[in-house]
Amino acid sequence: MKGRWFAAVAALAISLSMTAGGEDVLAGDKHRDVVIVSHRGASGHAPEHTLVSYELGTKMHGDYIEIDLQMTKDGHLIAMHDMRVDRTTNGTGLVKEATLSEIKKLDGGSWFNGKYPQFAKPEYAGLKVPTLEEVFQKFGKNRSYYIETKSPNVYPGMENELLRLVNHYQINKNKLLVQSFSSDSLKTMHDLDPSIKLVQLLSYRSNAVISQAEIEEVKTYATGLGANQAYLNEEYVKQVTASGLELHVYTVNDKARMQQLIDWGVTGMFTNFPDLLHKVMKEI
Ligand code: G3P
Ligand code: CA
Repeated sequence: MKGRWFAAVAALAISLSMTAGGEDVLAGDKHRDVVIVSHRGASGHAPEHTLVSYELGTKMHGDYIEIDLQMTKDGHLIAMHDMRVDRTTNGTGLVKEATLSEIKKLDGGSWFNGKYPQFAKPEYAGLKVPTLEEVFQKFGKNRSYYIETKSPNVYPGMENELLRLVNHYQINKNKLLVQSFSSDSLKTMHDLDPSIKLVQLLSYRSNAVISQAEIEEVKTYATGLGANQAYLNEEYVKQVTASGLELHVYTVNDKARMQQLIDWGVTGMFTNFPDLLHKVMKEI
């Protein structure tokens, strides 16, 4: 009886592994390749776009540190998502109307403790808004950076300044991705330095659809698409990845959705909880 049971299990295993010779092995390869992007750092755990949040992202197995860029009145690139400082600091007003020294007086951490008491830590109070230069100085040339040019129309020349810093700090361009919702900004980057890999961000408001012509146009300057996850479907994912473009989706903080998107074949994911995505990938 016991022998028959073992034989049945062995037969099942052989049959499964033969199936695995096709689709399952490929799926496994895809899973290993999904890149974890720490969205604004590990911003579910610590105040977004602070050095602490970026460091935590790396500790929590994030492959890339995601950095949104704004530019100060005196031309410094700083890490901040919004054009205004109001949401993520104790200040008020537009970044473009503030000097770096004014930005540096702001508290970029206390808001987080107030908004997310379950993740609050006393040391977050008083954290400073970092410049891109400080991020490069702290994490070095061989860290993987995923940098977004935000509102490039408001900040003429931000692409040149980004490239100047990348070159000055000898950032490893194989580990650098530059992303933007603005195709003009990405094309400017491409013209300045075609060796930099670019990701075109898209934001769908209903069921995601893309034509082959749109894909081909993106491929003239970018290596990937970054799409909001809410309206994606399996057909879209397969169409984009089959074209050879990377597909990185934002922002995924839910375990079941992570599993589904990995199963559909996305090649990367932005998450505020890189620890959770790492766990999901390990389980797979
Ligand atoms: O860059 C991908 C994703 O971060 C875009 O959305 O608003 O978080 O910058 P947002
Ligand atoms: Ca972003």
